[in-house]
Amino acid sequence: MKKHCNEQKGLICVICIALSLILLGSSAVFGAGESSKPAPAQKPAELKAGIPAISSMDTLTAIFTRRSIRSYTNQPVSDETVKLLLQAATAAPSAKNAQSWEFIVIRDKKTLQQIPGFHPFSKQVPNAQVAIVVCGNTKFQAAPGHWIPDASNASMNILLAAHSLGLGAVWTTFYPYEDRTAGIRKLLNLPDHIMPLNIIPLGYSLEKGNYQDRFKPAKIHYEKW
Ligand SMILES: Cc1cc2nc3c(=O)[nH]c(=O)nc-3n(C[C@H](O)[C@H](O)[C@H](O)COP(=O)(O)O)c2cc1C
Repeated sequence: MKKHCNEQKGLICVICIALSLILLGSSAVFGAGESSKPAPAQKPAELKAGIPAISSMDTLTAIFTRRSIRSYTNQPVSDETVKLLLQAATAAPSAKNAQSWEFIVIRDKKTLQQIPGFHPFSKQVPNAQVAIVVCGNTKFQAAPGHWIPDASNASMNILLAAHSLGLGAVWTTFYPYEDRTAGIRKLLNLPDHIMPLNIIPLGYSLEKGNYQDRFKPAKIHYEKW
């Protein structure tokens, strides 16, 4: 009887371990992009530390190979991927950690198609699968004007995270143009304390961006001007 009990316990143990492995495997795929795309390498140990996802592209490669991408395939971008990009955005540094950013996710083509009507350099926007409007909330900023660097840092994180997942994106700016700002404010019913910085159209990339060496020693100054 006792031996039978031990055998049963052993069997339950094996089943538990197998289930845990399956669960770990599925959570590692979270945020990895679409099911039809290969998931970036993700290590369960690092996910355990609370990181939403990791990418197989290292930081310097992402920085050096990111380019503005303005044409996209028809492949959908999932809500999970958008969430991951927003998690990356909100991991950015902000003045006094005020996190004064706000985001509006737009999938509605009718809305996206209206943007070139008041923004002369946004013809890529209606072709995107999804777009994120990055805004600053002046009620939360650490000091007047701080919404701009806060929202800019969040934007840069979105661009780099998108690139590392195989997505193309481009910072399509509203700020500091009054006409573009007024246009998007009206279109999205933005209250006065919400400042639109840019819209970032996203989609799987149809273009291949190449590294451009922009390092100019004459622009680097040491100790004093
Ligand atoms: C503040 C800012 C505003 C920009 N505004 C626009 C824009 O309105 N439309 C657009 O197509 N690209 C825009 N861009 C993208 C730039 O044209 C692009 O970053 C620049 O040409 C360098 O190319 P790269 O991003 O491929 O390195 C903007 C980028 C920044 C940082």
